Order: sequence, then C-alpha cells, then structure tokens
Amino acid sequence: MSHISLTRYLIDEQYQARRIQPDLRLLIEVVARACKAISVAIGKGALGNVLGSADAENVQGEVQKKLDVIANEILLEANEWGGHLAALASEELEHPSPIPNRYPKGEYLLLFDPLDGSSNIDVNVSVGTIFSVLRCPEGVTDPDESDFLQPGTRQVAAGYAVYGPSTLLVLTVGDGVAVFTLDREQGSFVLTADRVQIPADTREFAINMSNQRWWQPPVQRYVSELVAGRDGPRGVDFNMRWVASMVADVHRILSRGGIFMYPRDNKDPAKAGRLRLMYEANPMAMIVEQAGGAATDGHQRLLDVQPTGLHQRIAVFLGSRNEVERVTAYHHEPG
Ligand code: F6P
Repeated sequence: MSHISLTRYLIDEQYQARRIQPDLRLLIEVVARACKAISVAIGKGALGNVLGSADAENVQGEVQKKLDVIANEILLEANEWGGHLAALASEELEHPSPIPNRYPKGEYLLLFDPLDGSSNIDVNVSVGTIFSVLRCPEGVTDPDESDFLQPGTRQVAAGYAVYGPSTLLVLTVGDGVAVFTLDREQGSFVLTADRVQIPADTREFAINMSNQRWWQPPVQRYVSELVAGRDGPRGVDFNMRWVASMVADVHRILSRGGIFMYPRDNKDPAKAGRLRLMYEANPMAMIVEQAGGAATDGHQRLLDVQPTGLHQRIAVFLGSRNEVERVTAYHHEPG
C-alpha cells in the first residue's frame, strides 16, 4: 500500500467519495492529534508520573486514574477552540461541556470515552479512546443534553484509538472502516488497512466469565453451548479471549472475527448493562456494522436505540454477524 496519511485519506473522503464536509475532516484531525498526545503520555508510563489514581471519582462513581484525567483534559483542550464543535460530552463529565464564548462554534457534537479500559493502565495492557460524532440539531446554538440524545444511526463518524504495542486509530465516516498506525518517528497516522471486514463466522468469544452466575437465561444458554464445544449442540470447539479493555477486545474482533458480549445481568438489576450507549456501544456498533458485522443489545440493533440519557448503560453483543444473530435470537425465544 502506498503511503496514505490520515489527512490524505480524509481529503479523498471529502472530494472523491463526497462523504464528509471540510469541517468534519478538521474535527477528526483534531481528535487524532489529541489521541497522539494521549499515546505519548501513556507511553511514558511510570517515568512520566502518570500512573496510579487521581484521588477522585468520575460521574459514574468510579475511581479516576491520573491518565483518565489527563486524557480527558487533552481531548477537551484540543477540541474546544477548533471551531468545528457546538459542544462536547465525555464519560468523565456529568453534563455536556459548551464551547466557551471566546471560541468559534461549529455544527458538530463530539462524545468520547477518553480512556477506556483504565483498570489496565497500571499493568501495561492496551487501553484506548473511543469517540462518536453527531450533528448538532439545526437551529440549536447552545446545545444541552437533550440535543445529544440521538440514535447511533445519526453518527456521522466514529472511531477509537488503541494504545497497545503500536498506537492505532480506527475510523469510519460511513464509508467502510480504515485502520491507521501511528508512525512514531514522523508523528503521523498512516493508513495500514482499509475496508476491513469481520468474518461472519467465528470460533472465538469474549465475555467476563466471572459474572456467569448473574447472567440471564439466553446468555447462559448461548455461552454454555460455546463452552460445550464439540461435545455440545454446536459440534465445534470455541476459544475465549478477554482483555477487559473494550477497545482491545473489539480491535481483535475487527482483525480476525469473534463475538464480544457485555450483557445485562442480575448482579445489579437496576443497571441496564456495564457499558455506556453513547460513547462506547454506539461508536463501536457503527464501526462493527461498517465492517460487515452486527451489534445488538440482545433485543434490537444498537444503532436504533433511542437514547434517554447521556451516560445511559446498555447490554452489548457485537462482532461476527452469525454469532450476534444467534445470541440475539435466543433473547427472542420464549424462556
Ligand atoms: O469501560 C468499561 C470497561 O473498562 C471496558 O473497556 C471493558 O470491556 C470492561 O469495562 C471491563 O469490565 P470487567 O471489569 O467486567 O472486566
């Protein structure tokens, strides 16, 4: 593949594919620059005094790591003066953050999980950033939370960065999925895979098995059939992988297939799941669908869910189409 930078890719999407407007291109470039800065901070590890906890809790009541705070600040600072956004929302902030009046405003809404999988930071395992871009409703100049509550089908772009052995940026603007690898010497993201496709079938699954006793019957049935392998109704063996950073688990699935599950369970019945719809499930669902996979909450397509809250949680089943369809069908069978 000839050397295609993220900028060149986006310019092609703008002029040739006519998928995106110039200000969306610039917005994505700003997010990518912020991801580069986060990658540098993470790469310093213990030498940069960035590990450990920040002695604070986020809006989800979770202990914030220093890098959660740093990543959030990098993304906020990079994006607020770019002129492409009407407002931002982050996992780390209870309410959307308006663009300060001293900066120009644009027509997009950006949502992000600045550092996904943060329990893995201190043990040097891959973590990531997830983002989703929506259009600000027409005529709205000071968007509030209700303006963000759009179904995932309305996303105009979605992506994630994985900070692993190499730093990758995975992006869709609704025209397939492209993977960029950070060239650390040049400081630029270079296209290393385009039009990625997730195989429809797989023999690999990802779920936190320690929650098994709280799962609901459709998930109990589905996973017990996988675990029974060639001695069970599926007649073939399945393998399990669980990184516990959604970005890394989803990236494995994008690379070689698989099914990722974080179901709703009876551990805390008040919680509709572990993962957040607007800045985890929806962007990942858009990417997975653009790569030919499927993504549901067990009952319906994730991208069709009408959000009711910025930080709402949801069950997630995504990856290889035939497996996602099977576990979704089990949810529809009478118990
Ligand atoms: O954002 C939540 C998250 O860190 C995901 O990245 C990951 O899939 C999940 O939590 C891990 O949860 P658990 O603690 O159940 O392994």
